[in-house]
Amino acid sequence: MAKRTIVSLPGDGIGRAVLEETIRVLDAAGFEADYIEGDIGWEFWKEEGNPLPQRTIDLLEKHKIGLFGAITSKPKDAAFDELSDSLKEKGLVYSSPIVGLRQHFGLDICMRPCHSYKGNPLNFIRRGKGDDIEEPEVDVVIFRQNTEGLYGGVEWSNPGQQVYDALMTHPKFVSNFGETPKEEVSVSTRIFTKKATSRILKAAFEHAKNFGYKSVTVCEKPNVIRETSGMMYKMAQQMQKADYPDIELWNTNIDAQMMWLTKNPEDYGVIVAGNMFGDIVSDGFAGLIGGLGFACSAQFNPDSGVGVFEPTHGSAPKYADYETSIVNPIAMVESACMMLDFIDEKEKATKIRKAVAEVISEGKVRTYDMMKMRGKADVVENGAASTTEMADAIIAKL
Ligand code: NAI
Ligand code: MG
Repeated sequence: MAKRTIVSLPGDGIGRAVLEETIRVLDAAGFEADYIEGDIGWEFWKEEGNPLPQRTIDLLEKHKIGLFGAITSKPKDAAFDELSDSLKEKGLVYSSPIVGLRQHFGLDICMRPCHSYKGNPLNFIRRGKGDDIEEPEVDVVIFRQNTEGLYGGVEWSNPGQQVYDALMTHPKFVSNFGETPKEEVSVSTRIFTKKATSRILKAAFEHAKNFGYKSVTVCEKPNVIRETSGMMYKMAQQMQKADYPDIELWNTNIDAQMMWLTKNPEDYGVIVAGNMFGDIVSDGFAGLIGGLGFACSAQFNPDSGVGVFEPTHGSAPKYADYETSIVNPIAMVESACMMLDFIDEKEKATKIRKAVAEVISEGKVRTYDMMKMRGKADVVENGAASTTEMADAIIAKL
């Protein structure tokens, strides 16, 4: 197979440490690639006023596959304060570069698997019948619509007159907010389109079919958010009936789902949701399998073949400057395995996943989170593995 070029996007904070260790693991698994680094993140916001420079977009346009660490985002005012002085007059507004990447490339399918590893001391346990302790096996794949909904960016504070007038045409706006002065109104929209909704549903059903999951659960709130959630569930019903009669379609509300996920997580298979609820439910399930150190994701556009693979954790700034990095690289390594699946290097992905599973089940090498320590610079002295040591252990198994 021809050598691939991968765009590495370390970003901020711990993003670089986990990405560097992951590339070592990929090398050790025999994946032959050239890595070209793309600029992204806070530094580029401060210095250039753009956390996602055009040159980075061009790189991804050309090479199609990105491995992304994490970025730091800060609220509007803090972002403005840190902008270099020469840029402060330019009226620039910060927006998240990873959300920008998703929208620019139409990476509308986000896939977040959460499966428990044997022997992970962070696995969720519960009390069963007769007071015994049970450890349910979680094997869930969340499909999150990645470009629309509450993350679509269509929002206003003190909206312009045209927007306000349009809102005032809605009887519910008039009755609930009509008395509030316009200057005191902030609006974030939740827009779903049929096209994107159909694509995420189809991706979910296809995955269930191809990997033998018995159910697809739409996790929204159709009884209250009737237009958007309601549309998603209705379309799911039609799709299931027409194309996937052997797969059960379940419907849960996001709030109830967050309660049920600790009661019966083993009952769920594929879950599909809009952008915000998909983000929430995937973090919820990630908590059952070890938390952010284990939560991986893929986001891609099936038409263009552009894909960006990233752990779901952020840049964890408080750990970024430790001389020895202490964070768990497994979420990033597993994200890289999803990249390998996507570019048809499945054998190497399987090999790495097996190595990770062995390291976890053996239990000799554990990062601080797996030892239930508080993340401090001295955890390595106290017996926790560093980021590098965890990668070394995975490599040794390869
Ligand atoms: P975070 O995910 O960076 O960190 C939260 C906590 O999770 C950390 O303090 C640490 O205790 C733990 N943690 C995270 N990654 C870990 C790992 N690999 N191993 C072990 N423990 C780990 O989220 P936080 O603190 O809310 O946000 C920090 C910054 O990251 C913010 O600027 C936020 O905007 C950004 N962020 C970026 C994301 C991205 O790049 N996709 C996603 C989430 C947050
Ligand atoms: Mg999140």
